[in-house]
Amino acid sequence: MKKYYIETYGCQMNESDSEIVRGILETEGLIRTESLEDADLILINTCSVREKPEQKIYSRLGKINKILPAENNAKIGVIGCMAQNLKSDIFRQNNNVNFVLGPDSYRKLPEIIKTHREHIAFTDLSKTEVYEELFPSRSSGMNAWITIMRGCDKFCTYCIVPFTRGRERSKPVESVVKEIEDATNRGFYEITLLGQNVNSYNYEGNNFTDLLKKIIKNEKIRRIRYVSPHPQDITEELLKVHRDYYPKLANHIHLPLQSGSTKILKAMNRNYSQEHFLSLVKKIREYVPNMSITTDMIVGFPGETREDFEETIYVMNKVKFDTSFMFKYSPRPYSRAYKMDDDVSEYEKSERLTEMIDLQKEHTLLRNKEMIGKEVEVIVEGYSKKSNAEMMGRTSSNKIVIFPAVDSSGEKIKIKSIIKKTIIETKGVTLFAK
Ligand code: SAH
Ligand code: SF4
Ligand code: F3S
Repeated sequence: MKKYYIETYGCQMNESDSEIVRGILETEGLIRTESLEDADLILINTCSVREKPEQKIYSRLGKINKILPAENNAKIGVIGCMAQNLKSDIFRQNNNVNFVLGPDSYRKLPEIIKTHREHIAFTDLSKTEVYEELFPSRSSGMNAWITIMRGCDKFCTYCIVPFTRGRERSKPVESVVKEIEDATNRGFYEITLLGQNVNSYNYEGNNFTDLLKKIIKNEKIRRIRYVSPHPQDITEELLKVHRDYYPKLANHIHLPLQSGSTKILKAMNRNYSQEHFLSLVKKIREYVPNMSITTDMIVGFPGETREDFEETIYVMNKVKFDTSFMFKYSPRPYSRAYKMDDDVSEYEKSERLTEMIDLQKEHTLLRNKEMIGKEVEVIVEGYSKKSNAEMMGRTSSNKIVIFPAVDSSGEKIKIKSIIKKTIIETKGVTLFAK
């Protein structure tokens, strides 16, 4: 039996795609190995969103060549966004790579693993590929990723994703429902709907909220999450569903701000202003007062002055995000900003990022402290990393809670159970309960 090995970089979409790829390979009779040296097929699912992850992947590929024994005949494939971005250039950079597959070309895998041709690249982007009827081989755990749409039509000027992932397209409603049924039948309790702009879902007139309403009725699902929504498509209709279905629909929205400066937002092609973003947050909190709001922010976009950066700090102080992902701007090929002057110095970018991270830490702690004394619903995921006397679980707002492994009557707490816990302490991003 042939064995495959897979490594995944980048976002949840890539994690989910790796599960699709694994499903395809396992249907072909390959089995997974965790050992690189053992594998007949090595796949690296890659990310291009910033320069750093790309460099990391190149050095990883170099290392793989060194790790593999000289007589090794394993085929090496680079797949995902970097494959799409660099296409057959990858062969020039690393001659040991045998094939390159972009995110819309995974159906070529069965053909590719049977051929002896070297240096093949399939990188056509599709307007329709949603990998329907292919059941992913899911990683064990609580949560099943369900990709409901692919691609991005937003063209934020800094971003490479519309070029590596192609145009937006949505999976048929029935197909999503079927995939979720399959996941819940296999014991997954939590469903995370995925898409580059998950709430831009639109299939034959069914929008994201219509889809959510259909899914939410599935009684085997204990919790539903979704990432990443675009602020543009957060509707009142969606907020009503949040209000009506909490805690089954998680009280968490990831709302990427990118910048707090209206001028920079415009240059980024983010189609909202600072005022609009703040009023959206206000509206979200009117519907769901305890909604956890997380975000993505970029420092040092071309033309960002100290004053622009302070506008972002202003928004952070107004909203007090629960957590955020913060990045230095990195010029990406194909994107419109690539042609702009990358005029914020590396020193300035680092200063701004550090300032932002420090402020975010304060806000995270503040948000977590607000939870002390409150009772929350926790889905138990397993034992804590530190000890078997403690277990860990996740709140509807996506926060990790650590608590004793036995309840007050001395009973062992079961994995996957839903329990009520009162938060007593917070350290860093983690909450502790009685
Ligand atoms: N579709 C998702 C995000 C995809 S990329 C969304 O719009 O929310 C994830 C994050 O990476 C983005 O939100 C952005 O903050 C960051 N990012 C994307 N391109 C970048 C670049 N060129 N430099 C720095 N950060 C970038
Ligand atoms: Fe990139 Fe913007 Fe599309 Fe998100 S919405 S993937 S940031 S272009
Ligand atoms: Fe990276 Fe592609 Fe995701 S560029 S962030 S893996 S969509």
